[in-house]
Amino acid sequence: MTDTTTTEPTPFAPIHDPAERGFASDNYAGIHPEVLAAIVAANGGHQVAYGEDVYTARLNEVLGEVFGAAVEVYPVFNGTGANVLALQAATPRWASVLATSTAHIHADEAGAPERIGGLRVNVIDTPDGKLTPELIAAYPDRTGDEHFAQIGIVSITNSTEVGTVYTPAEIRAVADAVHERGWVLHLDGSRLSNAAAALGVGLRELTTDVGVDILSLGGTKIGAMLAEAVVVLSPERVAGLVWLRMQSMQLASKMRFISAQLIALFEGDLWRRNALHANAMARRLSDAVAGIEGVRLVTRVEANAVFPILPRVASERLMERFRFYFWDETTGQVRWMCAWDTTEADVDAFAEAVRTEMTSR
Ligand SMILES: Cc1ncc(COP(=O)(O)O)c(C=O)c1O
Repeated sequence: MTDTTTTEPTPFAPIHDPAERGFASDNYAGIHPEVLAAIVAANGGHQVAYGEDVYTARLNEVLGEVFGAAVEVYPVFNGTGANVLALQAATPRWASVLATSTAHIHADEAGAPERIGGLRVNVIDTPDGKLTPELIAAYPDRTGDEHFAQIGIVSITNSTEVGTVYTPAEIRAVADAVHERGWVLHLDGSRLSNAAAALGVGLRELTTDVGVDILSLGGTKIGAMLAEAVVVLSPERVAGLVWLRMQSMQLASKMRFISAQLIALFEGDLWRRNALHANAMARRLSDAVAGIEGVRLVTRVEANAVFPILPRVASERLMERFRFYFWDETTGQVRWMCAWDTTEADVDAFAEAVRTEMTSR
């Protein structure tokens, strides 16, 4: 019989330039070496499948320490899955969701909350991607009207889809407004690490301590590969997550590899190091283009994204060399996103290209 454990690995040559980096998304970055090392360390030997492994047990301890002892942790593959699962688990069959019009669950999940979760998402326009008690109070929620899908959960995102950050006090105020109405507060924390790093606070101060009931915790954007988790902070407000995760096709058989990555990020300070770095690169980029005529910085840079407006033709020419997206085609607003692996040299070269493009016009 062949001994497969001693087979030499077949060399695999990358088919892209490993030095290529742009500003399109923090999801474009690869896996952080410490996370990759954790995956490798968890490899070898057998572990019980579907989450009954030692890594998932350890992850529960780690996130218990990070968020508070009472948490329940459900590792999943992606952020959309985490959101749809969290929203479903904390709402009755007839309820709907309230979020901002820029919320990923509304704008960028192809209707997954509606299709998979059966949850209508009602939205509020905001100036900065953030809900407030005032905006919630002004929303015509038609409580008690049997012709309207009754709101059961409010979803906020931190850092937001437009790069702004909620402070702990702002989340507390939203949580109070939500709980006064008997609703549940969900936080899309796809970039929670960037928000906490920007504010210099811990993850608990932005969640458990300020009334968040259920959290989608991001790992992928700060250096993991296919690793997110639903973290339940108010277990009494949630039901059936274990079955919903399977029905939503988010139950990983080889869960140890998701859990090992999240341990690597959250057991120590890797999450903060990576987020601080990505945020600092966005700040550097914003500072570098601030004085360039024709580049308008219309939103505050609070986390790892810059959202400037520049002439469409200039963006299109820059896009021939650097990857990034239009955020709003009508205004010419673009999104420049920095990742854990963005370098100062990347930023400086890009800023210089923006300057050259704008001054040669
Ligand atoms: C704020 C926010 N939430 C959730 C997600 C969903 O993540 P995924 O693409 O892993 O489903 C994203 C992805 O870009 C996001 O930006």
